[in-house]
Amino acid sequence: MRLENKIAIVTGGASGIGHATVEILLREGASVVIADRNVERGIKVASSSDRAYFVETDVSDDTSVSNLITKTVEHFEGIDILVNNAGVSIAGTVTNTEPHRWQRVLDVNLSSVYRTCREAIPHMITRGGGAIVNIASVQGMFGWENYSAYAATKAGIIGFTRQAAVEYADNNIRVNAISPGAIGTGLGTNSQLLEPEYAYDPGITKPPPKKSNAPTEPDTRSRLKRSGTPEDIGYAVLFLASDEAGYISGQNLVVDGLMTTSVS
Ligand SMILES: NC(=O)c1ccc[n+]([C@@H]2O[C@H](COP(=O)([O-])OP(=O)(O)OC[C@H]3O[C@@H](n4cnc5c(N)ncnc54)[C@H](O)[C@@H]3O)[C@@H](O)[C@H]2O)c1
Repeated sequence: MRLENKIAIVTGGASGIGHATVEILLREGASVVIADRNVERGIKVASSSDRAYFVETDVSDDTSVSNLITKTVEHFEGIDILVNNAGVSIAGTVTNTEPHRWQRVLDVNLSSVYRTCREAIPHMITRGGGAIVNIASVQGMFGWENYSAYAATKAGIIGFTRQAAVEYADNNIRVNAISPGAIGTGLGTNSQLLEPEYAYDPGITKPPPKKSNAPTEPDTRSRLKRSGTPEDIGYAVLFLASDEAGYISGQNLVVDGLMTTSVS
């Protein structure tokens, strides 16, 4: 097993990519804390193994994240792996994203990563090292209409990842990001349920642009003849969290079935 005796936290571990990641890390021998706002699903996911433990967490809240770290250390006695996966998709262009919605996306998707890292890194240092994997997005690298705040948070995660990797290299802490392409999950529905005040679509003002054959335009279809699955991302997390990736830090691994690599 690739993660025997490791202790991991997966934020947003109650569904989608996070849930798949939890199952994969458990199969590889880790003890896993599921940190999520969704209590019902979180408890259900945690019930699958006696090495899984659910802590109700809102990653946008300092006190809640502090409680997550305290409970993890009390329950499992340390932290080796932190997967920052919790996120919401909130639509809007620059001009129709109101300041309170902009701020909310930043709090949930980006400041959350700073918040968990700030609390977890001292515990990793105590244990002699660790691995952090942050879930960004291809939207942090390429532009799609109507996602200004979301894209800004994902680009921010890529920058933060590089920075934290440099700052904690001497402590043997590796920090990497993964940028998924289109993955089949309930992200849109869950975002609307969790963030009813923020996750409305203010209206796409223009129809999506027609496909062009211009050679420089990225093709948004996967070329691998199937859709991306949460497990595709979970296995990438496993690799980056494991000692097999021991010489990899500060990187952004794109897992998008060639969505952003090929041109039409
Ligand atoms: N699905 C995709 O196509 C795709 C593509 C690129 C990146 N991502 C990113 O992957 C991550 C996981 O998304 P997913 O697609 O699995 O969606 P999902 O909705 O299935 O999972 C997100 C999880 O995060 C939790 N969550 C949301 N806000 C939270 C908060 N404030 N505190 C704690 N938990 C919270 C939700 O309850 C849910 O369990 C997100 O960061 C998303 O931006 C997804």
